[in-house]
Amino acid sequence: MKNISSLLRIQYPVIQGPMLGVTSPEMVAAVSNSGGLGSLPIGGLSPDVAGQLIRKTKSLTSSPGAVNLFAHAIPERIDEAGLQRMQDYLESYARQRSLPFSRRTAGEFRFYSYREQIDTLLEEDVRIVSFTFGVPAPDVISRLKDRGVILIGTATSVAEAVALADAGVDAVVAQGYEAGGHRGSFLEPDLPQVGLFALLPQIADAVAVPVIAAGGIVDGRTIRAAFQLGASGVQPGTLFVPSTESLASEGYKDAVIAARDTDTQLTQAFTGRWARGIRNDFMRTTEASGVGTAEYNVHNSLTAGLRAHGRTNDVPDVVSLWAGQHAGKARKGGAAEIFRNLVAGIDFDAL
Ligand SMILES: Cc1cc2nc3c(=O)[nH]c(=O)nc-3n(C[C@H](O)[C@H](O)[C@H](O)COP(=O)(O)O)c2cc1C
Repeated sequence: MKNISSLLRIQYPVIQGPMLGVTSPEMVAAVSNSGGLGSLPIGGLSPDVAGQLIRKTKSLTSSPGAVNLFAHAIPERIDEAGLQRMQDYLESYARQRSLPFSRRTAGEFRFYSYREQIDTLLEEDVRIVSFTFGVPAPDVISRLKDRGVILIGTATSVAEAVALADAGVDAVVAQGYEAGGHRGSFLEPDLPQVGLFALLPQIADAVAVPVIAAGGIVDGRTIRAAFQLGASGVQPGTLFVPSTESLASEGYKDAVIAARDTDTQLTQAFTGRWARGIRNDFMRTTEASGVGTAEYNVHNSLTAGLRAHGRTNDVPDVVSLWAGQHAGKARKGGAAEIFRNLVAGIDFDAL
């Protein structure tokens, strides 16, 4: 399969992984201006905020890259029992550590679905849309495709890749088990835990669209290996967490750089959804407590205050330190420099 450079109109078939809470418009622009595809995450944000971020990115680059959505359905009702159970737990966790926590009632939550963001994407003439956590509804896919928008979905299993290809996406991200951040999984009842080495060739064999490798991509040899296994592009994420343009706190950046191969794990403790991050006190204590999870949107909102406090005051023990198994290869520096080092010396046309 030809590499994705011509499809996405970029110089290098390398996508900066969208990372909600970490990726800034400046990071997207730095990568896009360096010949890769920056991706701006707007999953769960209000259309207003999403529009502002897209416009900011457009002001920094004439090749604004992709915009990334969360394609899951928002539940109509909040599970009160789950909400109260999690709040009781978080209140007690915070009190024991003299950290702030404010209780909320079900009526105070407002969640935004990807559907509410589509008008903004079309108004801003976004040309490439990637998504995770599912397949957008057929009417949304048609609206975007009618406007010539290129669609990139995320798969963590062969069945998910086939579902995305059948729905009409133009490319599929194969997200391996080693990848940092949330699993994009949306189909299997049991969480797919397939490593990229096994996932990539199986997805490449199963779908006709180009496949983009995500998980552990940090340098030339990992890029070459991915192409050898059937990738037409790569999408590193963790590599950009310690970049100058990243929104991560210094403690988070330092933890990523210092991470050993065994320092990350999958956890539901922060958001109720499975995600890979560096082990810390919140993860360990919450898992050991047996409190379980609330529905993703609720759970994620309930821990948001604690995580924001951790970011602002640099308390990494309560921050979701999302990172992949190859985190220790990441280094500080400008995103453009990180990108240049990554692609240096690779003849992509020969891969
Ligand atoms: C901090 C962080 C946040 C992430 N947020 C998103 C997101 O908002 N949307 C998405 O599609 N993927 C998200 N991901 C996954 C990345 O886009 C990318 O696929 C993944 O990081 C690749 O694996 P690596 O971290 O081993 O490079 C996130 C990853 C990290 C590390």
